[in-house]
Amino acid sequence: MATLRGTTLLVFLGVLLVLLSTFRCEAADKDDGDQFFFGGLSKAKDPAVEPNIEANKLSHCSSSSTTFSSLHHETSYFSKWVTEIHFRRQLRNHFELKSANGFPLNAVPMQDGSVAKPLEEEVPFPEFGETKSMLSITVVGASGDLAKKKIFPALFALYYEDWLPENFVVYGYARTKMTDEELRNMISKTLTCRIDRRENCQAKMEEFLKRCFYHSGQYNSPEDFLELNCKLKEREGGKLSNRLFYLSIPPNIFVDVVRCASTKASSTTGWTRVIVEKPFGRDSESSRELTKCLMQYLTEDQIFRIDHYLGKELVENLSVLRFSNLVFEPLWSRNYIRNVQFIFSEDFGTEGRGGYFDNYGIIRDIMQNHLLQILALFAMETPVSLDAEDTRNEKVKVLKSMKPLQLEDVIVGQYKGHSKGGKSYPGYIDDPTVPKDSVTPTFAAAALFINNARWDGVPFLMKAGKALHTKRAEIRVQFRHVPGNLYKRNFGTDLDKATNELVLRLQPDEAIYLKVNNKVPGLGMRLDRSDLNLLYRTRYTREIPDAYERLLLDAIEGERRLFIRSDELDAAWTLFTPLLKEMEEKKIMPELYPYGSRGPVGAHYLAAKHDVRWGDLTGED
Ligand code: BG6
Repeated sequence: MATLRGTTLLVFLGVLLVLLSTFRCEAADKDDGDQFFFGGLSKAKDPAVEPNIEANKLSHCSSSSTTFSSLHHETSYFSKWVTEIHFRRQLRNHFELKSANGFPLNAVPMQDGSVAKPLEEEVPFPEFGETKSMLSITVVGASGDLAKKKIFPALFALYYEDWLPENFVVYGYARTKMTDEELRNMISKTLTCRIDRRENCQAKMEEFLKRCFYHSGQYNSPEDFLELNCKLKEREGGKLSNRLFYLSIPPNIFVDVVRCASTKASSTTGWTRVIVEKPFGRDSESSRELTKCLMQYLTEDQIFRIDHYLGKELVENLSVLRFSNLVFEPLWSRNYIRNVQFIFSEDFGTEGRGGYFDNYGIIRDIMQNHLLQILALFAMETPVSLDAEDTRNEKVKVLKSMKPLQLEDVIVGQYKGHSKGGKSYPGYIDDPTVPKDSVTPTFAAAALFINNARWDGVPFLMKAGKALHTKRAEIRVQFRHVPGNLYKRNFGTDLDKATNELVLRLQPDEAIYLKVNNKVPGLGMRLDRSDLNLLYRTRYTREIPDAYERLLLDAIEGERRLFIRSDELDAAWTLFTPLLKEMEEKKIMPELYPYGSRGPVGAHYLAAKHDVRWGDLTGED
């Protein structure tokens, strides 16, 4: 009997041990999660049901073994803890939203400046669906500009359009101390609604904001990421978890964050992916070093190097245009195309970003990535399939076939202050974060060549500039003239004017138009140039999604086609690094151009040297 009692006692203790070790991490998670739920709120804690939260802190989460002394400690409040869990389970379905900055409680400011009806005081925690998996998105650098202006709005747009999985949470992570409510309030200011279904916008915003949380931590602190891990675990509630980290942070802390996130906050049941935003280094060496460091913690498959230009609607359409229309692909070569132009211009300066920009300049900021990526897509051979690797293989081949950039094929400029109509515009070096003697280019034009059978001798011109007269991004394809054109005399002698030009306007006002020669109606035979015009806003009623929406969705779905593979990145730097080094060694002085102008005249000389006229400056569009 005594033996039986002893055995029963032993079995009971054994079960207790197993229970404790199984629920230990969960307990830590729940405690923190609830602190998190109630963090910063005035709700008084009931000492009767408040266990020693400190003793059960998040750091336990990583520990898999249970020591006897800690077990003793935990056993002593085990029964209290069971009551606690029960109590908290009842409460976890509710949390309060509060304003920390005088903004109306739970107000949702709309784009037009009006303020939407505040959320109900008691906001139920969203019930997750039956689906077995859960997506946790952590935006690292949540209080930064990119996160506020692009990432959170893109996530909301995806949610609004029902693209996100049934179960998801969004965590903001940054050093700034902030409550969940403050984060929600901050991001609610930049959320926008799709015009076609605006009527349920406010409800959707409220639902979305309920799934947004915040965790404050250092970027190089494994402990802080461990805490994040515990919070994520609690939200994931035992479901298979997939985790996406968006690094919206300066490049000098990429590796710290990746180290902490991958070692302390990776999913143990599903995938973990990391989206990194350029700059990926400053040259070949620093880029390779960065890749090497990231690869210590992640596999290439986990790294999603974003180039948001690849997510733009018309860039995505480039391959469709080429490969699904018989009328274009046969013309896509040196036989018919005279030159191709990739043009990026902004009508504002570096305002507020001088500190970052001065270390990079326009060639690294726009040409080496955005424009070069589009060029590679434009010029590649037909991929074997639409599979990511097939497309990326073709892009790499283009980059590797390119002639190294020569200094004489590049001109650079920098904008200077200018007054117009009683208003004065600052020069680049007037930016307080820019050194007064900076020679960093804010404008550049370059002629590039692809040494392969398809493109031999065709100039690919790039032009990128800030503080110019207009904001636009476009691809212009200028075709050769018609040999022995019957109608030559109807144009006079300027054959340049009589050639076809295909324009893909990426932004603003997306359009694809083809300039064709046409007979002016009437009895005479006068020709003019007209457009076959596919203007998106008149053809399609749907609003065009922001590039970040497409790319975030692709990363969630594991579609890598629009992300940069490490060998693509390396090939892109190989092309630009010698030029950049030479320019820096020789301290090439940029040509000054007035703020709001069409850029330095050097760009015209460069084009003329290659027998090209910039299509955007003909005054025809
Ligand atoms: C970023 C550059 O990659 O692209 C910025 O760093 C630039 O300098 C921006 O302003 C332009 O993006 P978009 O989508 O507004 O044309």
